[in-house]
Amino acid sequence: MSAVTVDPWSDTEGSRRTRELFTRAFDQQPQGVWAAPGRVNVIGEHVDYNAGLCLPTALPHRTFAAVRPRTDGQVRLVSAHLPEEPWTGTVADLAPGRVEGWAAYSGGPAWVLADEGVEVGGFDAAIDSCVPFGAGLSSSAAIEGAVAVALAELAGLELDDALRARLARLCVRAENEVAHAPTGGLDQAASLRSRAGHGLLIDFVDEQVRHVPLDLPAHGLELLVIDTRAPHTLNDGQYAARRADCDRAAALLGVPTLREVDDLDGALAQLTDPVLVARVRHVVSEIERVRQVVALLAAGEVAAIGPVLDASHTSLRDDYEVTCPELDVTVEAARAAGALGARMTGGGFGGSAIALVPAEAVGTVTDAVRDAFDAHGWGAPAFLRAPAAAGAERVA
Ligand code: GLA
Repeated sequence: MSAVTVDPWSDTEGSRRTRELFTRAFDQQPQGVWAAPGRVNVIGEHVDYNAGLCLPTALPHRTFAAVRPRTDGQVRLVSAHLPEEPWTGTVADLAPGRVEGWAAYSGGPAWVLADEGVEVGGFDAAIDSCVPFGAGLSSSAAIEGAVAVALAELAGLELDDALRARLARLCVRAENEVAHAPTGGLDQAASLRSRAGHGLLIDFVDEQVRHVPLDLPAHGLELLVIDTRAPHTLNDGQYAARRADCDRAAALLGVPTLREVDDLDGALAQLTDPVLVARVRHVVSEIERVRQVVALLAAGEVAAIGPVLDASHTSLRDDYEVTCPELDVTVEAARAAGALGARMTGGGFGGSAIALVPAEAVGTVTDAVRDAFDAHGWGAPAFLRAPAAAGAERVA
């Protein structure tokens, strides 16, 4: 069984693909091409919806949207990944409850922008992506982000930090209200607000961000992403159930969010349901682990974040119960083969893991994970290299 590495497309390649798709589908040229990345979360998992702290980075893997505005209010959306004819309707047809599936993700931001008073007079869009789908790497947020930046810039807005923050919020609305996935804000913030060479420290109390230098190659390290290819979905009820556990625990503890818990032992002693005890332990300890990682990075002790990543995985496996055998085997095999730390990343229940690996051990770790999957009789995982990349932008 050979290892599959998913390489990112260059901006030139992504632009060429979407321009060609656009021209074939709509018989004219797009006005421009915009791109938005997928993400990995380095640390801070399942805490965004608890007003916690997260530290994602953008992937070099991006979704590309070739777009041309229209003046007749019509919208046409075409995807390289779907064989069907373009989705056709109006911005109003993209309202919550009126659209589902892929069109909800790609068209949802248009409806939210219009709902928030931005002029969206219709548009044609052709979308293609090298972000693996359903892999826990925010392919949805990348689609939303690419369309959102395109429409915002075409409406004359300047893509500064304030607009990025606004578009991130707006894409969360699209995801929650139009696509009916009850996610927090991690993915959209990472896709829209990241900077190359940096982790994005997001504080979900007020959505303030700080760009934390993350130059792993300078320390002889790499962040290896392993897509287990175990199916992963965020609207099958499990994700929402975890959010509901957190809301219930916060209500029982008399705090607005679990971020407000500062005496963990005291809080745990107040809860009688062992499931809620475990959920709260995860959330509060995970927020603390984000602080630890940020402090270690600031001190230049990059390799020392490995054990913190390991502790995060254990907490997500045992207390939050969002891993699966494929994720657990991945992190164990990666560590045994020389990774300094490894954890699931994203929503879990399948999807991807990350491993912090000395550059010279990447091949060994890749082989070990692949062999472990083989020994379990599972299909081959896919591997992505993940240097911290830039957020959404116009590329052509
Ligand atoms: C998914 C959601 C995010 C976040 C992560 C878990 O990626 O979309 O909002 O909750 O799971 O950290």
